[in-house]
This record gives sequence, C-alpha cells and structure tokens, in this order.
Amino acid sequence: VNGTPTTGWNALGRTACLLLGLGALSPAGAEAPQESPAPAGPSESVARFFGQYCVRCHGPEKQKGKLTLHNVGDDPASKTHARTWQAVLEKLEGKEMPPEDQPLPPPELRQRVASWIRSRLKEAGESSPPSTLLYPEKGNLVDHRALFSAKGAAASPAGPARLWRANPFIYQNWLSALTPFRNSFFGAGGGSAARRGGPFIFPWDLRRDRGFRDYAALYEVGEPETELLVYNARIAAAHIVEGGSRSGVSTDFRAFLFAGDAPARPQVEAAVGEAFQKLLRRAPDREELNRYADFLLQSLKGSKGKEALTETVAAVLLHPEAVFRTELGAGAPDAAGRVLLSDREIAFAIAYALTDRGPDGELLKAAQAGALRTREAAARHAKRILEDAAVEKPRILRFFQEYFGYTAAGDVFKDDDTVRQAGLGKAYHNRSGRPAVLSGDTDELIQHVLKQDRNVLFELLTTRKTFVNPKVQPHLTQTLLHYNLDPKAPARNLPLDLPEDQRLGVLTQPSWLIAHSTNFDNDVVRRGKWVRERLLGGTVPDLPITVDAKLPDEPGKSLRERMQVTRQPYCWQCHQKMDPLGLPFEMFDHFGRYRTAELGKPVDATGVVEGSGDPKLDGPVRNALDLIRKLAASEHVEQVFVRHAFRYWMGRNETLEDAATLIEAHRAYRSSGGSMKALIVSLLASDSFLYRVPVRAEGKPR
Ligand code: HEC
Ligand code: HEC
Repeated sequence: VNGTPTTGWNALGRTACLLLGLGALSPAGAEAPQESPAPAGPSESVARFFGQYCVRCHGPEKQKGKLTLHNVGDDPASKTHARTWQAVLEKLEGKEMPPEDQPLPPPELRQRVASWIRSRLKEAGESSPPSTLLYPEKGNLVDHRALFSAKGAAASPAGPARLWRANPFIYQNWLSALTPFRNSFFGAGGGSAARRGGPFIFPWDLRRDRGFRDYAALYEVGEPETELLVYNARIAAAHIVEGGSRSGVSTDFRAFLFAGDAPARPQVEAAVGEAFQKLLRRAPDREELNRYADFLLQSLKGSKGKEALTETVAAVLLHPEAVFRTELGAGAPDAAGRVLLSDREIAFAIAYALTDRGPDGELLKAAQAGALRTREAAARHAKRILEDAAVEKPRILRFFQEYFGYTAAGDVFKDDDTVRQAGLGKAYHNRSGRPAVLSGDTDELIQHVLKQDRNVLFELLTTRKTFVNPKVQPHLTQTLLHYNLDPKAPARNLPLDLPEDQRLGVLTQPSWLIAHSTNFDNDVVRRGKWVRERLLGGTVPDLPITVDAKLPDEPGKSLRERMQVTRQPYCWQCHQKMDPLGLPFEMFDHFGRYRTAELGKPVDATGVVEGSGDPKLDGPVRNALDLIRKLAASEHVEQVFVRHAFRYWMGRNETLEDAATLIEAHRAYRSSGGSMKALIVSLLASDSFLYRVPVRAEGKPR
C-alpha cells in the first residue's frame, strides 16, 4: 500500500499527537492489574509465608532449582535479591509454586503476598515481570472457589480506570459513516490479494491467538499506529470537508468556508463546534474549543480556509475519544475509593458492549440528562437494546465465536492429497471453501439457540440440531454427507436433526473439530486444553520451549498410540490435564466426520475427567458425547462460562475483587432459566462494569 503521509502531514502528525495527549495517560495495556491495597509492613508475615510454604524445598536442607528462600531477607526492595523476588513473584502469580501436590496457600494470601512484592519492587525502582494475569488465556489463574465464595460476595468490585483503543470494527463503522466509503478499508485483512475497498488502512488488527481478542491489556497505540491514524484522518477529513458523505456533513461548514480569508473568532469557533458535534457527537468543552480554534487560526496563516479547516477536522478525528475508549470515571470517590463512570462513558460502554457503533439517540439523551449513573438505568438501556430486533448486535455472536474458537476452521491447512484421500473433492478448498461454510452453519446454530434464549450453554453443548446452508452449492451435498445425513433429502425445515448418538452441540460441529485439528490429524492436545480451560476453568502451564513437541511418525499406529510419548512423567505432569479430555473426540476424523473405525480397528474414544474442581465430574468417560453430557449438566462448568462472559464484556480478566459481580451474574443466568440476555444485562449493570479505581496524577492506578 503506497500510503505514508506526505511531509506536510508529518507536521500535522506531530501536532495531532500533542492534541491526542498521548503522553497524558498510558493505555491500560501498559499497566499492572488492579492491585489490592498493599498491607502495611507485612514483611514478617511474608517471612512466615515462605517458612510455611516454601522453605521445605528452598531452604537450608533442600535447594530445589538451586534456590533458597530462608536467606533473601524480608524486603524485595533490597537490591541484592531483587532477581530472586522477581522469580518468586512470577511463580506465585502463575500458580506454579508451591507444586500442586503440596499444601497450598489460600488464594487471598497468595494474592496479597504477590501484590506486596510487586508494589515493593515498584517502589524500589526495580522492574516487575509483566503480569501474565492480564492476558485472556491466563484468566483462570484466579481461584475459582474464592471467586464464588460467600466472602467474595461482600467485596466492592471496580475495574482499573483505563484508556483503551477502540476496536477495529467500531473504528471502521465510524469512518464509514462519515465518508462515502461503505467498506472503508483498503485491502482489509492485508495480504497481496488486497480486496478492493475504501482508501483507509487498518491502524491495528486484533490478534487471534489469545482467546478473547478485544482486550484492554493486549494493545497499545504506538508510533506506527499513530502514523496510520493520521494518514486515515487526513483522507477522511478531506471527504468530510468536501462533502459527498452519506451523512452529508459538509454543508455545516458553509458559514466558515464562505467567511472569506479572515473569518472572525465566532465563525472559527462555530466550525470547531460543528466538527465536534458531527464527529464526536458532543460539543467541545471550553478548553477544547480554545485549543482547536487556536489550531485553526494558526493553520489559516499558511493555508487557504478549506485546507486549514481540513487540518482541523483531521485533528478532531484524532481526538482521544475517537481512537480510544475512555473509562476514567467522574465525581467523588465512594467509601471504597471507587468512582462511577461519567454519563457519557456509560453510554459508550453500553453501546460498545453490544454493537460496533456509538450510543443511539436514547442513550445520548439519557447521558445528556445525567440519567445514566445508576445500575438500574444501565440495566434498562441494556435490556432495551437487547430486546430491539432492529438493532444489529454483532458483539454477542462474536463472543461465542471467540469462546468456542470454531471460526479458525478456515485457517487450518489440509493439503490436496489429504483432502483427496479423505474423499472430499476439490471444493473443500478455496477461501470460501467448506470450512467457512461449516463455520457459517455453526453461526446459524448459535443464533438459533440465542433466539430461544433458554438454557443457552446447555443447549449449545448438547443440541442434536444442525444447520446447513442450502444456498451454497456445490457444498451442500458434501456437507450433508459430512453430517451422515441423506444427501438427497431436501435441506428444508432447518434446523435438521442429526443422527442419534453421533453428535452433541458445538464441540461436535465439524467447524469446531476442524478448527481444533492439525494439517493431518486430530489435535488431541488443543481439544483437551480447550475443555480444561473453557469448561473446567483449569490451567495448563505453557509448552516449554525446550520440549520438541512432536509425535513419532508411525504410519501403522493410531493417534492414541502415537501419543504414548506424552505419558513420560515429565511430559505427563502437563499433558494429563489435556490429553484425556481430548481423546474422547477420536470418534471423529480430522475433518469432523463421525467414525467408528480407524486403521481397520474400532475407534477407542475413552477418556478421563480428573482434577476438575467438581468431584461429581471426575471419572472415566466413554466418548465425547458422554463427556459433553456430564459437563453440560455441571454448575461448575456454568460458572466457568460466566467467567468467560465476564472477561469478554469487561475486556479484562476478573480479579478476586470482582467476586460479587460473578456471583450475581451466575445467579441472574440461573434464575432466568439460562437466559444469555439476563446474563449480559447483569454484567452491564454490575459494579465491575460501572465503577473504576481512579487514576492518580502520574497516570498510575491507585
Ligand atoms: C515440594 C517442593 C517445593 C516447594 C514446597 C516449593 N518449591 Fe519452588 N521449586 C521446586 C522445584 C523442584 C523447583 C525446580 C523445578 C521447577 O522449576 O519446576 C522449584 C523452582 C522454583 C523457582 C524457580 C527457580 C529458578 O530460578 O529456576 C522458584 C522461583 C520457586 N521454586 C519458588 C517457590 C516458592 C515461592 C515457593 C513457596 C511459595 C516454592 N517454590 C515452594 C520445589 C518446591
Ligand atoms: C509445562 C507443560 C508441558 C510439558 C512439560 C510438556 N508439554 Fe507438550 N504441550 C504443552 C502445551 C500447553 C501444549 C499445547 C500448546 C499450544 O496450545 O500451542 C503442548 C503441546 C504438545 C504437543 C502438540 C504439539 C503440536 O503443535 O501439535 C505435543 C506433541 C507435545 N506437547 C508433546 C510433549 C512431549 C513429548 C513432552 C515431554 C517430552 C511434553 N509435551 C511436555 C505443555 C507441556
């Protein structure tokens, strides 16, 4: 793409950065998670903590990992031992020490000690390891039982005040609405085969590899992104001032443009006000009005009226509110030191939770009237938007896409030979090939279950229905065969009933199975990991880089047999948490077709649930259907699902302080008979959603 800003615009780039005020606050991603108040002088109790939980293996007698902890002193701020404390912090937060089979510290104590070490390191100017607890895939490290305990219910939840970048969908919709370009990004998605589209360039994309994609902690807006933002702003501004946009913006600048070479200050201010109203849907405050009016007047010295106005409009397009979501809160802190979001912040937060657009008229009106700052008001508006069939709410399906991960089916490459040997024919491939069609079928199924809005998780896990897309030939026949359905039967009366004892729910949809497969095989490890993390709420340490994670190449053997290598004790400490939960899916091949035989022998699809956190769940399972039925009936699994919904809708991981929100959300879900709407409303009206821990002057959360 031949699009770097021209020199003249680099000057604007700099000015814009000043206007952006990027230095004033660091985006949430740069910050540690909300820290619990550091206990005053707990050094003695930390020494006691080590004595009780660590020194057995890291003391005078044994020095496991060549580490001793009885002699590091009692303060992380001491220079000589900072590295040791950093290592300790990492192991404590990652729940890796003490080893699981040892007496474990209570979760609150673990968190308190870790927070204290972190704050002492910070005070001493030592670096702390980046808190892995911020990333979506690490959310389960927060203790499940502590979250749902009676003690947790008494907490006063609040998220950290933050400034996080708007998601690309929001940004795209916003630019599209202001300019004539419906599909506003040139070559959206990148790559050489850039599709035709508008002239803008994506300033950022969402990563796919960490579970939930739109997370405050995952993204920063650095120099490269800023450059692209400036580039986009310049193009958009030209169109806005020229006119011809779908919302017909330009006429509003007429007064300014016809004012001649030397417009008076009121005309300049009117133009700035107009730009704010159109682009940000609010009036500028006094300080903004002065700053942007000065900027326009300054620009007028070197340029014609139209150019100067274009620069100013571009500057408004780079306003933090356009690029970031600000959630700082306003007003005086309450007794727990929390502040409520401002009316306007609540309006945007609710709109962005459900849609990819800014607030609708009613939300804006309520915000202007100062009528949004209660949990009841938030609940009322969330409910209103959820009930309004005319409003598109792409964020809800997206949650399920990211939670289940089935849309990755199209990303798993299967070579021609493999496809041919499987008897699947050429049409399996190409960009909109069968994986995409199958993933579209799963979208339909989820929408169908959401429409009923009853026992949503249970239904998604256990429904025997499926959708096929009758419009996509030549895939239809093949798709019906994929499901063991009669390929000649007309695909009407959707959804169809699947053959009994073959499939249950999303985890047995071909899209999910293909998304969790490798180029040539089922992916037992990642299927098991998915079940461990997303249904059981467990954790698995990352694959160490020192491990050559390959299965032996033994053509005559089944995958289960080849996976024997992971049973070595060193491997098994991790793999026992994944493999026995992934093996039940061996009743399907790696294209997601049901099978009873593999290499001429009956398929062995047995597995085991172990260490699930719910004794009723633990035990052997016959196959995937047996596993799924058990899991779908578990309250523990339901709570884990609620935790994931929390993460998605808050854009951050839960902490022990959020316990009350989770307990209430789970109650709302259960007492409504498993309504997703009730769950979402509860989350959007929660203290975790509406309250923030204020930012101190230097930009650090308290
Ligand atoms: C039952 C024995 C045992 C207990 C109890 C134990 N550890 Fe460990 N620890 C080990 C072993 C074994 C290793 C080395 C292998 C490894 O890293 O898994 C280790 C490694 C470590 C390391 C990494 C050392 C390095 O530099 O590689 C740290 C840090 C650590 N432990 C901290 C702790 C802390 C803090 C506690 C108490 C909260 C604790 N351990 C309790 C056995 C133990
Ligand atoms: C500390 C935990 C841990 C240990 C120890 C471990 N693994 Fe793994 N292994 C993982 C995780 C986690 C994954 C999944 C990786 C992912 O999600 O990308 C994995 C994946 C794999 C895979 C699948 C790789 C792929 O790309 O398909 C194989 C094969 C494997 N491990 C073999 C082994 C063997 C053999 C050993 C022992 C020599 C071992 N692992 C030790 C955690 C571990």
